[in-house]
Amino acid sequence: MKLPRRLLLCLFIVTGCASHENVARVEPPRSFPRDQVLKGQELAYVGNCMGCHTEEGGKPFAGGTPLKTPFGTIHGTNITPDSETGIGQWSLAAFTRAMREGIDREGRNLFPAFPYDHFTKTTDEDIAALYAFVMTREPVSKKNRENTVPLPRATAGWWKSKYLEPGVYKPDPAKSAEWNRGAYLVEGLGHCGACHTPRDRLGAEKKDAAFAGAEIEGWHAPALDSTSPSPIPWTVDALQTYLRHGVADQHAQSAGPMAEVVHDLSHVNDGDVRAIATYVVSLDKRSDEQRKQTADAALARARAAVAQKGNAVYDGACADCHNLGRAQEGGALELPLGTALTVPTPKNLAYIIRDGIVPREGERSGWMPAFEGALTEAQLTDLLTYLRALSGQPAWNDVAGEIKKTSKGQK
Ligand code: HEC
Ligand code: HEC
Ligand code: HEC
Repeated sequence: MKLPRRLLLCLFIVTGCASHENVARVEPPRSFPRDQVLKGQELAYVGNCMGCHTEEGGKPFAGGTPLKTPFGTIHGTNITPDSETGIGQWSLAAFTRAMREGIDREGRNLFPAFPYDHFTKTTDEDIAALYAFVMTREPVSKKNRENTVPLPRATAGWWKSKYLEPGVYKPDPAKSAEWNRGAYLVEGLGHCGACHTPRDRLGAEKKDAAFAGAEIEGWHAPALDSTSPSPIPWTVDALQTYLRHGVADQHAQSAGPMAEVVHDLSHVNDGDVRAIATYVVSLDKRSDEQRKQTADAALARARAAVAQKGNAVYDGACADCHNLGRAQEGGALELPLGTALTVPTPKNLAYIIRDGIVPREGERSGWMPAFEGALTEAQLTDLLTYLRALSGQPAWNDVAGEIKKTSKGQK
């Protein structure tokens, strides 16, 4: 008898991986060594736990954060130590199982919107520190939101059987300690690939295209491998500065979802940030000569762009700041050096122009006005087309259509 594949899949889901054991409720300790809590806090910044587990305007870690996935909206849960609505009765073993295997205390499969496919690489010691940090937060009584994913949790079990490779990161003895530390953080808690690696139809990262660039929350997260579109190829020093401060010489300022990542990394020690930079730069296999040629060409394009008057919208709205270069007061980066011009879609550029650059409270960074409503769609299309040409890349397809997709509510 030949069963349709879909039916087989259903049978497999229902029978194969439906449930796991429940881990007993406990009354976890409420006090931990201070050093362990502080270490956990730093690791929580690397893992951006706060970002996915805190709702806009909500209490830290109390959940409710909507995460849009192609399968529906999944909400970050309450991971404060509240006994009823949070994880206050989770033992370290239950917490570890969630981080490594994506299973909650009661044995239910968790959806991979929780990036446990990365977190599984985390050592016992680091998971214990995260646990100490989480368990010493303020308990908040707040019920978890319903998800709108029309799939039973068992599908997450099936997904894991296909894609999850549980297990702690194994250092590569041929590489330096710093590189290994960086790989551990990037592949594990930092889950950089969750945004920078393209996914297949079932939402799994394509392993053979790791860090090749991907669409996320309506933005394009640029490639970090040899296909990096960065006009000036990244060096370890520049990347360390960027990850720490959101901006580095001759590179664009972090924006969109990356601004949040950088904000979190600003709380992480220099050694770890440098290790992350070391590992990421090693993903780019181009020779020094190729990298230098790429950089020289970009600098030449930037000089040429500043010298020419070529587009009325640009000259009127942007040139005053961007032609000056950062070296001058009130000046900003020469735009041909911005990655927003070289990525495969005009969306990043459209968002930046729409929303401007507003420094976070207490952070020193440049300020750029938001142009929302100030430019017509036709002007914006014309400007984006012009800027793309400055970058030396082939023209974008359907700029007007892409701009429409970036209008509010379309994300
Ligand atoms: C990209 C978003 C994202 C990040 C980053 C993230 N989480 Fe989550 N997490 C989720 C989502 C979504 C769920 C719920 C999944 C579900 O309902 O199936 C979840 C569930 C959990 C759970 C299970 C809780 C429960 O109520 O069942 C724990 C524990 C947890 N996360 C801890 C953490 C920690 C610790 C970090 C930081 C190291 C972290 N998460 C970072 C999205 C995230
Ligand atoms: C008042 C000055 C000012 C004006 C006018 C301005 N910008 Fe900016 N822009 C900035 C600053 C400051 C930054 C962030 C820091 C930096 O890049 O030097 C920035 C950042 C950007 C970025 C991100 C890449 C980067 O350089 O960090 C893009 C893209 C950008 N601007 C495009 C534009 C476009 C297109 C216009 C015209 C529609 C424009 N800007 C008008 C000041 C300005
Ligand atoms: C939530 C999604 C997300 C995560 C997680 C994330 N990034 Fe990004 N990243 C983006 C997006 C979107 C951009 C493009 C916007 C911009 O340039 O600021 C970006 C830009 C960057 C850039 C600038 C690229 C260029 O050439 O201009 C670098 C470098 C980078 N990310 C590195 C990292 C590293 C390292 C990590 C892990 C520690 C990471 N990202 C995690 C979404 C993410």
